[in-house]
Amino acid sequence: MDTPSSLRRALIKAAMLTPALPLLNACKTDSATANPTTPPAPSPGQPVIEPEIPPNLGVRGSHNPRGMHVSLLNDSHKSRGITWFTDQSDGKNAPAAMVQWSHIDPSWDEVDVINLVDHPLSNTIFADSTATTGVGAQTHKASLQLNKPELAIRYRVGSDEGGWSPIFTVPASAKADTNWHFVHFGDHGIGPLAQRLTAELTKPQYHHNLLLLAGDISYADGNQPVWDTWFDQNQALVSSTVTMAVPGNHESKDADPDDPFVIPLGDIALFRDYAFNNRFHQPGGVSFYGFDYNRIHFFGFSGGAFIEDGKILQEIITMEANLARAAVRRAAGMIDFIIVFQHYTVWTDQEGRGPGNASLILVQDQMMARYGVDLVICGHDHIYQRSAPMVFGQRSPLGYVQVMAGTGGQSIRGFDDEIQGWSEKEFIGVGFCRYEVSPGLIKVNYFGSKGIDTPETPHGVGSQKIEAMSVDADFELIDSFEVRKRQPKLAKSFLKPARSATELAKAYNWDAIIAHTNHRNKHHGHA
Ligand SMILES: [Fe+2]
Ligand SMILES: [Fe+2]
Repeated sequence: MDTPSSLRRALIKAAMLTPALPLLNACKTDSATANPTTPPAPSPGQPVIEPEIPPNLGVRGSHNPRGMHVSLLNDSHKSRGITWFTDQSDGKNAPAAMVQWSHIDPSWDEVDVINLVDHPLSNTIFADSTATTGVGAQTHKASLQLNKPELAIRYRVGSDEGGWSPIFTVPASAKADTNWHFVHFGDHGIGPLAQRLTAELTKPQYHHNLLLLAGDISYADGNQPVWDTWFDQNQALVSSTVTMAVPGNHESKDADPDDPFVIPLGDIALFRDYAFNNRFHQPGGVSFYGFDYNRIHFFGFSGGAFIEDGKILQEIITMEANLARAAVRRAAGMIDFIIVFQHYTVWTDQEGRGPGNASLILVQDQMMARYGVDLVICGHDHIYQRSAPMVFGQRSPLGYVQVMAGTGGQSIRGFDDEIQGWSEKEFIGVGFCRYEVSPGLIKVNYFGSKGIDTPETPHGVGSQKIEAMSVDADFELIDSFEVRKRQPKLAKSFLKPARSATELAKAYNWDAIIAHTNHRNKHHGHA
């Protein structure tokens, strides 16, 4: 029979294993100010258990943290970005916001992890705080360098006066010689389908070390509080999983119109304060960036989503140099794969969407063929479609596989009548892609819930009808495929010098790229 102590630990453990429930807080000095909760009434005959440790809801204060999420900044093992929000836009009289954190000793149990008396959070990092784009709040970003990257961390954010978040844990990054997982999807939103996907993804069988959000994330479209709803809905997922994001066309609608840095330029304006850049904490603080996770190099490409920031040419030049360097490192055996991670599709069969931005696709396809990109993972079109290895839209073993998973739940769309020759799999519904990485091999599984036609929404009569489809079916395995690392001789064939800005300027029609990107952004604004 359980003793009260072991029973208490069992209850704590049960609470910790249930994502919807808050962790328990062992900080007894905090208990007097902890947010009160009303426990459920015991059933007749059920013993009343007086917990010795109050629920880990954090500590209420004057500026309560919300929207906690974790990212990586440079080294995927040693760096962590922690971001959160507090209400009050100007920060006047606000206490300095900070992260308290420590590594987790592997010998600790779940109670030790949240015990602040015997195991204090020994490190404090102060955050950089700025006004959150378009709402009366502040965004806080802290940068952590982990001295024992092989160990998980635990953290809380806030301050004594402002209030503390619950304690969250973040596992150590997976080791390169083990199997590890990442998940990708785009086009999420805050509606019932999006929440269904989030709930599915938090199930233990989909454990993943890294989450990649392929743009069109909240669909705030300038209604900035929607971002807060998105972070509230997804906090259980992104507060404990390293999450990286790229912007989509819906993030392009999120610049603050009152931004004092707006520079009118003809019929466009250079917006600098995009909510996306404000709310995510990523390498270099920009919407495009490269990083390694073990033996994969990722390049996050905005694809011109923020054409109005005037950085598209800089971004393409950056991508050229980044992919050229990655190809060298792959040929030298330092990495196995090069993955481009972006919102926009390169090729698509979504109904009425192809062809896309021809000028930019030409630049990108030539660049990816030049350096032998292995995978392009994207969203934008609200379908799942996976290609065979392809070059310039034609099947080729030398090319990349495009995985389009714009099936985060914002809406569900259909396909053109004719499917192009590069396509290997098409699916209509909601779902996400999970990648199992081992040395030299990526096994990919797409899990989805099929869209179901209703009398009001018959499939095939137009995308507006399809948009209203619902998903009631369980998630199931829809597609599986593998990507193997390129043989050394082939990897060496992609060793090419990075073209300079001058060479790129000569090779492509930049005016056309900008004009077509503006046109695409305008006409793809709905998806
Ligand atoms: Fe999109
Ligand atoms: Fe979308």
